[in-house]
Amino acid sequence: MRKLFIAGNWKMNTNTDEAVSLLNELIPLVSDVQDMDIAVCPPFVYLHKAVYLTRNSNIRVGAQNCHFESKGAFTGEVAPEMLKDIGCTYVIIGHSERRHIFGETDDVIHSKVKKALDAELKVILCVGELLEEREAGKTEIVVETQLIGGLKDLSSEDLDRITIAYEPVWAIGTGKTASPDQAQEVHAFIRSWLKNQYNENVSGNCQIQYGGSVKPENARTLLEQPDIDGALVGGASLKAASFAAIVKAAR
Ligand code: PGA
Repeated sequence: MRKLFIAGNWKMNTNTDEAVSLLNELIPLVSDVQDMDIAVCPPFVYLHKAVYLTRNSNIRVGAQNCHFESKGAFTGEVAPEMLKDIGCTYVIIGHSERRHIFGETDDVIHSKVKKALDAELKVILCVGELLEEREAGKTEIVVETQLIGGLKDLSSEDLDRITIAYEPVWAIGTGKTASPDQAQEVHAFIRSWLKNQYNENVSGNCQIQYGGSVKPENARTLLEQPDIDGALVGGASLKAASFAAIVKAAR
C-alpha cells in the first residue's frame, strides 16, 4: 500500500522568525499523524534550522532545488551532497517555476535527479502542462516527455526514491485547481506509463502527488482519488493551520 505524502513548498517565503514560528506551530498540530509522509521545503538558508527543529518530529525536510555537480566552481549553487550533509531527506526537482522562470530543461532536470539520488536524497520530480498545452489536447504528451526526460536510465530501484508531483502549471498559485477528475485522469496516465516503462511493482508503489492551489477545502476530494497519493502544497503550506488541515484531510 502506498503511504500518502503531503509536502509543503514554501518557495521564496518567510524570514528566520517566520520559519521558526511556522515549524513550531506545525509540529504539534501533526504530531499524532501516523502512516503518512510529511515534509516541509523551506528556502536553502532555513534548511539547517528546519532540520534541527523537526529532529524529534514526524516531519522531514526537503530543499526546493539543487545543482547537478557535487562540488567545484559553481558560484551560488548548492550540491545535493550538501543537502544530505545537513540532514535533508528530499529535494524538489523540475518545479514549473524552475522550468519556466529559470529555463531548466529536461536534460538539466535529469542530471539533477541522478545526482540527488547518488547523494542518497529522495526526489520529488514535478511535471505538468501549461494552459495552452492542455487546451491543445497535449497534456499527456507534455507529461510523458517530462517523465522520459527526467527519469531516463533510472532503474526500478531508483524509482523507490522518486515521488512524482503532477502540477498543472495553470493551477499553481492561481486559485484554480484541477478538478478531482482532471487530476485523477493524469495521475492514472502517469501510473500506467510507469507500468509500461518499469513494471507493476514500480507503478503500484510510486507516490504521485497533486499540486496546484491545494487548500484545506479541496484537499479531501482530490486525495480521495485512487491515483492521488498526496499533495505538494505551495501557498497553503505557509500557515501551520492550513497545512495541518490538508495533512488531516488526507487521513
Ligand atoms: P500552490 O503551489 O499550492 O501555491 O498553487 C503549488 C506548487 O507550486 O508546488
